[in-house]
Amino acid sequence: MERREFLKFGGIAAAGFSILPSGSLFAADQQKVRLGYIGVGARGMSHISEGVLRDDVEIIAICDTQEWALSMCRNYLKRKNRPAATEYTGSEDAYKKMLDRNDIDAVVISTPWQFHHQMAIDSMRAGKAVGCEVIAGLTVDEHWDIVRTSEKTGVHYTTLENVCYRRDVMAVLNMVRQGLFGELVHCEGGYQHDLREVLFNDGKEWYGHGVEYGPKAISEAQWRTQFNIDQDGDLYPTHGVGPCMQFLDINRGNRFTSMSSFSSKSPGLPAYIEHKSPGHPNAKIKYNNGDVTTTMINCANGETVLLSHDVHLPRPYSLGFRVQGTEGIWMDVADSIYIYEKSKKPHQWDPAKEWLDKYDHPLWKKHAKEAEGAGHGGMDWFVFNGFIEAIKRKKPFPIDVYDSVTMSVITPLSTKSLKEKNAPQDFPDFTKGKWTQRKNTFALDDSGL
Ligand SMILES: NC(=O)c1ccc[n+]([C@@H]2O[C@H](COP(=O)([O-])OP(=O)(O)OC[C@H]3O[C@@H](n4cnc5c(N)ncnc54)[C@H](O)[C@@H]3O)[C@@H](O)[C@H]2O)c1
Repeated sequence: MERREFLKFGGIAAAGFSILPSGSLFAADQQKVRLGYIGVGARGMSHISEGVLRDDVEIIAICDTQEWALSMCRNYLKRKNRPAATEYTGSEDAYKKMLDRNDIDAVVISTPWQFHHQMAIDSMRAGKAVGCEVIAGLTVDEHWDIVRTSEKTGVHYTTLENVCYRRDVMAVLNMVRQGLFGELVHCEGGYQHDLREVLFNDGKEWYGHGVEYGPKAISEAQWRTQFNIDQDGDLYPTHGVGPCMQFLDINRGNRFTSMSSFSSKSPGLPAYIEHKSPGHPNAKIKYNNGDVTTTMINCANGETVLLSHDVHLPRPYSLGFRVQGTEGIWMDVADSIYIYEKSKKPHQWDPAKEWLDKYDHPLWKKHAKEAEGAGHGGMDWFVFNGFIEAIKRKKPFPIDVYDSVTMSVITPLSTKSLKEKNAPQDFPDFTKGKWTQRKNTFALDDSGL
């Protein structure tokens, strides 16, 4: 939906610290957060659209390597009567010039995954707080590097993991915290989204047209498809695991200890190409990423988590959440909740809505109006709001650097597990033992943090 919406913009159609980032000029009494954006393609534009809605955000600068994205953003700012942002372009490291500025407090990184780690490191070293899209790095070492740099510079880093703020997810979090499910035992989630029309296009239209990827395509088909060709593993774990981490207090009294992954064969993408364009050479490519990858994770407190990555086969979208404890269960695909001795009939599901409405999270009750119309059913408003409010209030990001890398490191660990015949992988403790003392404060502050 989001991409379709941006097509209408015209551009593409036509063409835990509580201190301020060191080195930042952000003053305690300053009401505006001054942002630089690195990457203003589909997702970057979504964050731009959140920025223009707020009086407390100034969009100072934008950086992108492609004119279609820059012009889309330029035209959008103009249409919204916002001042033009200074543009940085011309090379893959043009963003470094933007980081030299001393009038930017924070950056929003929405580039292809391979750039996230270095851009985040450079931004933190330049004293800019970082809100980065949901893959922190490509290797386990890169994830450690993010943690070390954040600790060393004292600059905050957060992943912009929006599904943690989905309305039903937050209502279920509310129910978990009120003990409705009893003691939690098992959670599930995943990225189960038919991306075939995102991974291939004709270079003019984002969706449903064409079977090209790489330089002949646009947006994610330019770069994401190559990951699915090269790498087996759970390539996109954060939307599924982020909410599970909140339910289970991961890094905050609990932690992931080990995990193993399994992958199916991968006929999905060749079948799609052959169907769309019989005889096309892209149908002959070997796609190394299994069509369905599942990962089992163990937790220090004895729970299990099951994650799925399923993006190459026809299927309706569902992140497949399940939260199960000694008193009840939620399954989002069945849209059902069952609470022992509280549901209407024994052994029969209640429609989830009845429970989700009753336990609507206080943050959603308070901010639903502001979130109306924002991307992905409103959750994009919340993730951006948490980012901005934390900077303004000099508070830790709701999802901090340790949480961010924990979600994302599942990708390299799953790839390694698959290479080693599903061997269990020890989960890094990025908090270095602090998880035993840290408390889960996510969404407990009514400012949106
Ligand atoms: N959280 C969500 O719901 C969500 C949704 C979509 C995408 N994403 C994530 O957002 C990120 C971007 O995805 P997208 O859909 O916007 O892809 P996209 O291809 O539409 O946009 C990426 C942009 O980055 C630019 N870029 C590439 N290299 C650059 C560089 N070195 N310097 C500056 N700009 C550069 C590209 O020109 C492009 O405009 C990815 O990490 C993706 O996984 C998250």
